[in-house]
Amino acid sequence: MRSIGVFSVKGGVGKSAVAVNLAHAAATLSGRRTLLWDLDAQAAATYTLRLSAQPNMSARKGIAEGDLARLIQASDYPGLDVLPADKSLRHLEKQLAEDEKAKRLKKLLKSLDRDYDRIVLDCPPGLTELAEQLFRAVDLLVVPMLPSPLSVRAFEQLQEHLARHLKADAPPLMPVFSMVDRRKTLHRETVASAPERLCIPYAAEIEAMAVTQTPVLAKTTTTPAAKAFSRLWADVERRLSKLPA
Ligand SMILES: Nc1ncnc2c1ncn2[C@@H]1O[C@H](COP(=O)(O)OP(=O)(O)OP(=O)(O)O)[C@@H](O)[C@H]1O
Ligand SMILES: [Mg+2]
Repeated sequence: MRSIGVFSVKGGVGKSAVAVNLAHAAATLSGRRTLLWDLDAQAAATYTLRLSAQPNMSARKGIAEGDLARLIQASDYPGLDVLPADKSLRHLEKQLAEDEKAKRLKKLLKSLDRDYDRIVLDCPPGLTELAEQLFRAVDLLVVPMLPSPLSVRAFEQLQEHLARHLKADAPPLMPVFSMVDRRKTLHRETVASAPERLCIPYAAEIEAMAVTQTPVLAKTTTTPAAKAFSRLWADVERRLSKLPA
């Protein structure tokens, strides 16, 4: 099993859109047994895949390794399951904080090792305790950012933070430009300054996912947005294949 965290310090940059489409691509393009773990209590990814938390989940006091399997739901797409977000995440955050450096999230992921080939985690923004646990748990961190100098700076700060605090334990980072609008000079210039980074275009069909509750690639494979997500997934798989066993 390989795990992919989708994270950025900044909010509203397209993390959930990327997480949903990566997880969908993992299951449908690569035939991987995939779990999308929605770690954001706002539950955008859960909602986009037409799921909701089970009502009795919110009463839970905490999440233990053995609990996870019971909380997982099948999505409409073959091979794609979802661990929905809900209020119990508040307890999880507390649990994680109390565990200090213990790698609780890593242990929880490990408990799903046999059931899944790929686990995609959609995270809330910010350098929270949850984020610190995520950094210690995942094999790869996909970091969507807007194509602006301030966002690039925030990414560099994240890089420095990981280098300083996690050193060799830091996961490899995959920065991705999100919501790219090539009509804007600033977007074009920022993208040109890092030509190796993949770009997800600003696209009405991505924005519409909140209404259609359907991943882009479930509707089409030919539009620029769909091609960008499949290219991103192929890049993620390539990066994962190069990791030590
Ligand atoms: N490439 C895109 N083109 C157009 N709209 C987009 C794109 N990506 C995301 N959006 C829209 O922008 C808004 C924010 O996206 P999303 O929820 O994925 O961001 P986020 O980083 O997960 O936000 P949060 O930090 O609140 O979790 C949503 O309304 C979404 O539909
Ligand atoms: Mg989100």
